Amino acid sequence: MKKYLVIGNPIEHSLSPNLHNYWLNKNKISGNYDKKLLTDEKVGEFLKSNQKISGINVTVPFKKTVLNHCTELTELASISQSVNTIIFSNEKIIGDNTDIYGFEQSLKDLNFDGLNKTAFILGAGGVVSSVVIALNNLGVKNIVISNRTKNKAEALAKDYNLVVSDWGKIVDFDIVINCTSVGLKQGDNLGLDFSKVKDKIFYDIIYKPKTKFLIDAEGLGNKILDGKMMFLYQAQKSFEVWHGIKPEINEEAINLLND
Ligand code: ATR
Repeated sequence: MKKYLVIGNPIEHSLSPNLHNYWLNKNKISGNYDKKLLTDEKVGEFLKSNQKISGINVTVPFKKTVLNHCTELTELASISQSVNTIIFSNEKIIGDNTDIYGFEQSLKDLNFDGLNKTAFILGAGGVVSSVVIALNNLGVKNIVISNRTKNKAEALAKDYNLVVSDWGKIVDFDIVINCTSVGLKQGDNLGLDFSKVKDKIFYDIIYKPKTKFLIDAEGLGNKILDGKMMFLYQAQKSFEVWHGIKPEINEEAINLLND
């Protein structure tokens, strides 16, 4: 039986095992998907010592940590400098990125056309490079980034050709994406004033709980999108990379995230 798992810290609430085990079962593949709590120092040792594992998903905060421990990176992992999927093949540890696909596909579902659109990114954490690359793939050329700690936004702006805006200032945009961790805890408040914005798209990478960012935006008549479909699509792509089968995102799979 092949073994798969997700590593992160914290990892207790990860829904990846539910989803992957559901798909393994559904596709009659003999395998098991588990979760593993690690610390930063233990990641390299774990990857090198566990060659009986066929694949690993990587979540916060190790998507960059694992870069150094992979023996190869796919093109997408390399350009994003972010790995969320690892494939063990013979002696190789191959780092891949399916977050880009996940984000891109979730916007394709909305028939989003990036031509002449401006995207406004909040935050400068690990997921931002994947979001930027996906936006570029969708044709978005104007991307403005704002982060509480400005120099982190500046570093990303330099690498990915973005415009930096001061934290607290709301620029003109067609789509705004919350890539900060604000909203993960009930009652979290970004403290930004979007009260004059309507008929735009508000996207939150967080999918649980429904964030104040999205609740307020919806109340003002904006279109909202949470991170659920991105999560499902990145998982679907990982599954396809490992098993050669594209699993179905059906109602049952979606409901696994609602429990
Ligand atoms: P990761 O890289 O693992 O995704 P991270 O680097 O901790 O996570 O990124 C979290 C993001 O949320 C950062 O952009 C962080 O802003 P700072 O760079 O200033 O720390 C942002 N963030 C977290 N708490 C915040 C808050 N209360 N207000 C505004 N931004 C916040």
